[in-house]
Parts: sequence; structure tokens; C-alpha cells
Amino acid sequence: MTPVQPTPPFPFNAGPVLLKIGGNDIDNPAFLCELAAYVAALDRPAVIVHGGGKEIGQLQTALGIAPQWVDGLRVTDEATLSVVEMVLCGSVNKRLVRQLIAAGVDAQGLSGTDRGLLRGVRLQHPGGDLGRVGTITAVRAEVLLDLLAAGVTPVIAPLALGEDGGAYNVNADHAAEAIAVAIGAAQIVFLTNVRAVLVDGIPQPALSAAQAQALIASGVISRGMIPKVQMALHAVAQGIPQAVITDLAGLQSGGGTLFHNGGSAATATVSAGLEAAAAR
Ligand SMILES: Nc1ncnc2c1ncn2[C@@H]1O[C@H](COP(=O)(O)OP(=O)(O)OP(=O)(O)O)[C@@H](O)[C@H]1O
Ligand SMILES: [Mg+2]
Repeated sequence: MTPVQPTPPFPFNAGPVLLKIGGNDIDNPAFLCELAAYVAALDRPAVIVHGGGKEIGQLQTALGIAPQWVDGLRVTDEATLSVVEMVLCGSVNKRLVRQLIAAGVDAQGLSGTDRGLLRGVRLQHPGGDLGRVGTITAVRAEVLLDLLAAGVTPVIAPLALGEDGGAYNVNADHAAEAIAVAIGAAQIVFLTNVRAVLVDGIPQPALSAAQAQALIASGVISRGMIPKVQMALHAVAQGIPQAVITDLAGLQSGGGTLFHNGGSAATATVSAGLEAAAAR
């Protein structure tokens, strides 16, 4: 008898999924539990990049450092960089890895500096000096592809190694996009704490580059949503077939805002794929 082959639930099954997990819910045990179950049920490789902005802000405040932002990017002096590294590579990364392993995922935590996975230089930002905030210049994709081939799920804290041997704080959305492109991801999902990009409170099912840029220019898209939308647009411009911004419930039900480099067929297939994944 011919064995039944499982039907791939995703239309773009040629590459891994890049899952960027925002930091707003990453301290919520129920969220972590559901997220880990979702990852465990995926039938294709995943690379996870996480944020941790909320907990970085909490530790900054506890240490008497006032968080400062420019266009959704954290101004990072040396003291803040220490906090960023402690929170991202320490408590947040390890908490995520523990939860994934408990769900049966062979997860391994990595800082972007480990094995020189992410190399970076200081980000020159038109809005002002951001300190030790970096932009990624190179990704050692083979490190991740080897782990994926071995069935390991990499869980990456977004820091980059500078030429001076120091670390750079990299916005997690920026890191996720660079990694997705480097590994040839089939899809990038920005998991955050809102269902979708909202306009007057209404979730947007899809946005073109022109629409998104206009919403940024008019201030409808603001703060942490700016780098997320920019990176979703950049990802599809770089050849990633689909980018989605949503929350966990949206991921499970096929909701969220879709950015894609195809026509209406791509819109339909991403929903079908996400729904199929949620149904398992
Ligand atoms: N038009 C918009 N639609 C939806 N959310 C928006 C919009 N404009 C700004 N935001 C804000 O963007 C936030 C998401 O970005 P934020 O940086 O806080 O989360 P994250 O990127 O998921 O987490 P982290 O920065 O820790 O990785 C939302 O909670 C919301 O407050
Ligand atoms: Mg953010």
C-alpha cells in the first residue's frame, strides 16, 4: 500500500518560516505556552527572532535610565547596551527556549554575536544619534541552515557583532528581515500585540508599499509599528514571497496585514496556508 503523504499546508513550502516574536507578550505564560504549541505543530523549519522592548524598558527604569526613542528605535548608550544584552540574551531568550523545549521543539538560543552570526555597523539615522544601535552588514546563513538541517530551531536575540568587537543593539524587526533574506525564507511573520496594522482602529488585511509609506508619513503608523512595516515591505522587495504582521490569534486564524510580492492569488494562498496550519 502506498503510504499517504501529508499535504503541505503552506503553498510556499520551499523554505523555512521566519517568526519574529515581539516583546510585549513574551512575559505572559499563557502566550508562551500557545506560541510554543504553534511552533511545535509547524511542519516546516522555523527560525525565531525575538524582541523584548517592554522588559528592556522595565529594567532601564529600575536602574534609573530613562528610555529614549527615535522613530521607534531605542537610543542605546553603553549602559543601555548592557541592559539590552542582559534582557535579550539572558532572561527573554532563555525563557523562550525553555518553553519551546517543553513543547517538544529542539530549540537553541543564540545571540546574534554568537559565532559572528550577525555582523553590524553603527546605524546612521536621519532622526538623530542612536548610540550603539547597529545595522546588519552580514548574516552567516550557513550557521542557521546547518541547525535547520539538524532539526534544530534557532532562537535569536537581535544583537550584532561590530568590527571593534563590541555589540550593537539591532531592532528585532530589522534583524528578522535580514535573517529571512539570508536564509531564503518562504515567509516572514511579525508577531506582535495587535491583530494587524490599524487605520482608524480598523485592521488592514493588506497594504501596498505606497499605502504603507503614506500611512507612515501621515503618522497613522507610528512608534514600533514603523520599523515593522518598513521591514515587511523590504522583505517582499528582497524576494520573500510573503510578510505578515499579526498577533497570535491572527496567526492561528489566518488574519493580520499581508504584504506580498505577488497578485491576489498570493493573498488567498497565505490565508489558506495559515488557516491550514492553525487547523492542525
Ligand atoms: N497604525 C498602527 N496599527 C497598529 N499598531 C500601531 C500603529 N501605529 C503604532 N502602533 C503601535 O505599534 C506597537 C507594536 O510595536 P512594538 O515595537 O511595541 O511591538 P513589537 O515590535 O511586537 O515588540 P518588540 O519591539 O519588543 O520586538 C503596537 O502595540 C501599537 O501600539
Ligand atoms: Mg518593536
